[in-house]
Amino acid sequence: MKLDIDFVRSQFTQLDDDPEFVFASNAGGSYVCNQANEVLEHYNRHTRVQPYSRFKSSAEAGKAMDRAYQGWADALNIDRNELTIGPSTSINTYVMAQAIGDLWMPGDEIVVTNQDHEANSGVWRRKAHEKGVTIRQWEVERDSGLLDIESLFPLLRDNTRWVFFSHCSNVVGTVNPVPEIVKTIKSGSGARVFVDAVAYAPHHISDLKALGVDGYAFSLYKVYGPHQGLMYINGDIHGDLTSQAHYFNSGNPTKDFNPAGPQHAQVAACAGVMDYFDLLHQHHFGDNGNKGQARLEEIYQLILQHENELVAPILDFLQQHAGGAPAWQVPRPGQ
Ligand SMILES: Cc1ncc(COP(=O)(O)O)c(C=O)c1O
Repeated sequence: MKLDIDFVRSQFTQLDDDPEFVFASNAGGSYVCNQANEVLEHYNRHTRVQPYSRFKSSAEAGKAMDRAYQGWADALNIDRNELTIGPSTSINTYVMAQAIGDLWMPGDEIVVTNQDHEANSGVWRRKAHEKGVTIRQWEVERDSGLLDIESLFPLLRDNTRWVFFSHCSNVVGTVNPVPEIVKTIKSGSGARVFVDAVAYAPHHISDLKALGVDGYAFSLYKVYGPHQGLMYINGDIHGDLTSQAHYFNSGNPTKDFNPAGPQHAQVAACAGVMDYFDLLHQHHFGDNGNKGQARLEEIYQLILQHENELVAPILDFLQQHAGGAPAWQVPRPGQ
């Protein structure tokens, strides 16, 4: 079976504006699927009130937001209370630097990489400097541009508190084997693990419990959705971190790490991406009974197949022309 690309294209009305125009601006985000735009418009036209009160439009607004929280929690195989939907990944990590970093003491250590986007690097480094925490840098190999697990071992100590790295390189696209890295970290230290998946999530939505991470962040505006950042924080450590919410929201798991408070309409629109995935699944697989992650896996296999076809010419070219080139690979599901 192949991805029905005409069907996919029909779900993104913006593509009709100029059929000759090729949009390939990953950093700027993806086009927004029609389903997300529809939810956003419906929210703004009919339920643009403070959500979660008893009057009709407010109750509906709350339900629309709950649908997004629950849908994404199911997709990521996490508890709904472990999900923060904030303004962007940069803001989410900035907030977490306060929530996590508040607990750091002089003598503690963290590990960051030189493969990461600034959003998963600068915030932790600045907080570490402020708190007298030692920063160790896990560096990409000079020739391959890859992070090698062997070179992570010597950086881990008993007092390593957190390790921050990315799910895939946003330069060469190689996927880091997250479960293996997490296992290495947990066997070599008591450190917690935070992964930036902004570059990876557009290619694959992961089962976060299977990855074994403690924190995970990506941006939905690169996954066909509104400009929001989704962030998982392991419920086991939630209570140890300092709430960054207004005091009257403290202890509310969806607000503790989102001092701006949820952007109601945008949060609701996050459910539209799930509606799109559901439709894509229905179109290709009918009602085969699969749900949650299994459903997403089936869709992503089709998308991956299509991506591999698109990327093959450039990879072939690079392999032929870059003597001794590293083993280029596009992101694979299940990693
Ligand atoms: C790999 C990676 N991490 C983090 C970010 C920051 O995400 P946001 O724009 O949601 O702050 C980006 C943005 O392009 C990115 O490419």
